[in-house]
Amino acid sequence: MILYFSATGNGKYIAEQIAAETDDKAISIVDCIREGKYLFKDEKILGVITPTYFWRLPRIVTEFLEKLTIENCRYTFLLVSYGTSTGQIGTMAKEILKRKGQKFDAYYSVIMPDTWTPIFNLSNKERVEQWLNKGKAQLKTVIEDIKSNKRGDFIKNKLPKFVAALPSAFMYTAERKTKNLSVNKDLCIGCKLCEKKCPVGAIIMEGNHPVWKDEECEMCLGCLHRCPKFAISYGSGRSNKHGQYKNPYTKI
Ligand SMILES: Cc1cc2nc3c(=O)[nH]c(=O)nc-3n(C[C@H](O)[C@H](O)[C@H](O)COP(=O)(O)O)c2cc1C
Ligand code: SF4
Ligand code: SF4
Repeated sequence: MILYFSATGNGKYIAEQIAAETDDKAISIVDCIREGKYLFKDEKILGVITPTYFWRLPRIVTEFLEKLTIENCRYTFLLVSYGTSTGQIGTMAKEILKRKGQKFDAYYSVIMPDTWTPIFNLSNKERVEQWLNKGKAQLKTVIEDIKSNKRGDFIKNKLPKFVAALPSAFMYTAERKTKNLSVNKDLCIGCKLCEKKCPVGAIIMEGNHPVWKDEECEMCLGCLHRCPKFAISYGSGRSNKHGQYKNPYTKI
């Protein structure tokens, strides 16, 4: 069973590739949470795939791992997708599982286009393609390692704990405020996609436009990247110049 949290498709694509190569299933962590499914038993493989947010685990994945129980699974792994640095995400996951007397057999990473477009510019198609090609090559190796049940920590581009841990917690808390998100009502066509797809139900429609009803969300940027009219911005609007992104090899 390959479990994934994915806002813009990188993790979903990775999960689907691994599932296809290992004759297994890819399932969304959001669906598991909605169904209250936290126990995984007698699986041939149990993999958890997550994006890196501010050098750490997204809040929703942290909460999922805190509730996760793995019983009698033959091979387990965590795979993180990232754009620039994985920071301390692997250590964070290890510590959560250790507190419960559990562990993953292996920790992997795969680079993918960085969807934090308040900073990174994904409007250049060639650059995005180069990023994707690098990721596809890494994924190929990781899949071979998973098939041979390799054990160990193979996460790349980490940062030391003293550099990453505190600033990343502080940054994620600040950047996760929904007041950072806004809609351009002139562009919005009221299609409700943002409301329907938000993994934590943070959006409601009011007067045919989205309103962020919760003070905080995951800040996955799924609403910004998936909007058919690119009507959603982050912060002062720098994200508007940096394009939208969805992984081209899957549907999200
Ligand atoms: C809120 C947010 C924070 C991010 N922080 C990091 C980070 O600290 N390091 C990094 O390498 N990539 C970071 N990224 C990029 C994502 O981890 C990366 O693009 C990932 O592949 C997205 O996966 P998805 O398409 O499955 O959602 C961030 C993206 C978002 C939306
Ligand atoms: S997805 Fe975009 S166009 Fe559709 S309702 Fe949301 S903001 Fe408006
Ligand atoms: S409001 Fe947008 S950024 Fe926040 S969790 Fe929902 S889809 Fe992601």
